[in-house]
Amino acid sequence: MSLASDIEKLNSKTGLRQLVNNETFSIGKTLRYVNYELRLEALQEELIKLQNWVTTNKKKVVIIFEGRDAAGKGGAIRRITEHINPREFRVVALPRPTEEEIGQWYFQRYVNQLPKAGEIVLFDRSWYNRAVVEPVNGFCTEEEYEIFMGQVNAFEKMIVESGVIFIKFYFSISKEEQAKRFEEIKKDPLKKWKFSDVDAKAQELWDVYTDYKKRMFKRTNTKTCPWIIIKANKKGKARLEVIERILDIIPYEPKNEALIKPVVPKVEEVENVD
Ligand code: ADP
Ligand code: MLT
Repeated sequence: MSLASDIEKLNSKTGLRQLVNNETFSIGKTLRYVNYELRLEALQEELIKLQNWVTTNKKKVVIIFEGRDAAGKGGAIRRITEHINPREFRVVALPRPTEEEIGQWYFQRYVNQLPKAGEIVLFDRSWYNRAVVEPVNGFCTEEEYEIFMGQVNAFEKMIVESGVIFIKFYFSISKEEQAKRFEEIKKDPLKKWKFSDVDAKAQELWDVYTDYKKRMFKRTNTKTCPWIIIKANKKGKARLEVIERILDIIPYEPKNEALIKPVVPKVEEVENVD
């Protein structure tokens, strides 16, 4: 790739246009952005190889994205799927359960979404709703919560034992960053539809979320299915890191090892975690 063609490509990116048109134009910021875009593109090329390996070898992959509202899960998922074949992956973002689903085993609607051979499924929120969002907002009873917490590790073990490559990410943001993002979302005509009733209470319920989050890590950070924490106050960095982790964990071939950075923070190292 020539520099000219790189720049031409980058020029079409809205982010760069905004930076360059900004009155407070900063060369440092712009270069960081260019750097981010080039790195993202290199990692996305690896993701295409990964997907080919999954398809050719009939592997099954499940990746779940958890974290507080506005942590950037959706944005990271979009960067992962940007260039891969839409026939061979699915993004699952289930709405609140219907009456019929409420009558079923809690995991049932998630089981229905598990991958067929050769498929990658990305869960934007997952069954872990019952570990945090639901008890915090009163959407489930204490008893339902306990039953879930008692079943989830076994459930995930069964998924892994059925031959699924399973990865779980937790996007971690600070209270201030969440507040800032909510303000931006509310102001943006393209984003304000996203601001939900659950979001509206997230700041005031911050500490209750923290409490349930800690309990979730304590009880569900298993050897077979450990949590991978993504420090997500910086969106770009978090997106690159998620892709790096995926490329590192999945044993696809041929892998460009030199491109992938060594693995970093685990649950134990994260602030507030027991
Ligand atoms: P998102 O984070 O995907 O933008 P929300 O902030 O609206 O969505 O809600 C957070 C999560 O809580 C979603 O997974 C949603 O399905 C779930 N949820 C919202 N309301 C309920 C409810 N009444 N019962 C169970 N789950 C709910
Ligand atoms: C995020 O973490 O950003 C979610 O995917 C979307 C949102 O809650 O704004």
